[in-house]
Amino acid sequence: MVSLLPVSGLDDSQRDLFAGYVEVYAASGRSLFGDDHAAWGADELRVLEAKPDRRTLNVAAVGSDDTVVGAASVVLRLRDNPRAGFISLAVHPEHRRRGVGSRLLAWVEEQARQAGRSIFIVETEWRDRDTDSHGEGFAARHGYQPVQHTLRSTLRLPLDRAALADLERGSGHYALETSVDGIPDAWLENRAELQRRMSTDAPLGELQLEEEDWDAERVLDQYATILAMGRRVVETVARHLPSGRLVGYTQVQVSPETPTLGYQQDTLVVKEHRGHALGLRLKAANTAAVIEHLPQVTAIRTWNADDNTHMLAVNRRLGYEVDAHLCEWQKVLG
Ligand SMILES: CC(C)(COP(=O)(O)OP(=O)(O)OC[C@H]1O[C@@H](n2cnc3c(N)ncnc32)[C@H](O)[C@@H]1OP(=O)(O)O)[C@@H](O)C(=O)NCCC(=O)NCCS
Repeated sequence: MVSLLPVSGLDDSQRDLFAGYVEVYAASGRSLFGDDHAAWGADELRVLEAKPDRRTLNVAAVGSDDTVVGAASVVLRLRDNPRAGFISLAVHPEHRRRGVGSRLLAWVEEQARQAGRSIFIVETEWRDRDTDSHGEGFAARHGYQPVQHTLRSTLRLPLDRAALADLERGSGHYALETSVDGIPDAWLENRAELQRRMSTDAPLGELQLEEEDWDAERVLDQYATILAMGRRVVETVARHLPSGRLVGYTQVQVSPETPTLGYQQDTLVVKEHRGHALGLRLKAANTAAVIEHLPQVTAIRTWNADDNTHMLAVNRRLGYEVDAHLCEWQKVLG
């Protein structure tokens, strides 16, 4: 008999239960991608759960021998997207097709519904040249619609430094500035504005997401979170020299869970400054900085909407190759 138990990473008396909960996501990732998988670590999830800008509700499915066989969570953001619930869900590969996933999904959906949320979002992933069996077989069956298809691409490092330097060059109206493991105060105001725009400028498919409200304090808080998770972070911005304003940025994070893998985060060039190859220059400069400051990193991974043709073209130019896919599934309550 499998029971559902709410679990918190912040409750010391549930340490083992939480470890089992985290391990289910890792086991599920390994079954999809083998050694090439990546999953959140327990300490990273604890830092995120403690953040006051969200409520995180986790649940573990526990078998009669106390083994955790399934895990789910819903994140309710408190600062933006007040109608949305962001759901994660995995069942250990050896315990599938026994109704555990359906029970976990019903639990997180009910928590979200009680908290006044009416848009539920969940992701599925699959290897390149495979099919989205979990999305088509499970999410669709539970009333979810596929609303955005994302390509996962990987860049193998190191790259030739001189070739990267060539890609960094361009119009003298812009200067690139890089920062490692922190953000200069002088960037903060402009950087917050860029992040606000990033939340709706990147293609969103049919995802019903709203603009996020960013200020300097929130950017600083985000940096504090990244560092508290034990992550390294390399960021490059583009400054428009005539106005002195920041007009683009790109960021790579490296988790202590997977120290050889860089996660590409946001890349944005504001609309008014597109067409100057700034996306390519930013990413080339940031990649060079990752190679220089974090030489243990052997790959950077990125996720792009399949209709984000400009970003995909930049990535191909740098040498990224598509190796997996992700689909965002959404259910909107009537
Ligand atoms: C998707 C997942 C959570 C399903 O967990 P589960 O415990 O096997 O789900 P259930 O037993 O409740 O499945 C209910 C029904 O969904 C359908 N289903 C589930 N997995 C399926 C699959 N891989 N292919 C086709 N149909 C599937 C079936 O109709 C199943 O009923 P049946 O077994 O009587 O035929 C699990 O496979 C998993 O962890 N996948 C990887 C992580 C993931 O994709 N998470 C996001 C899910 S939206």
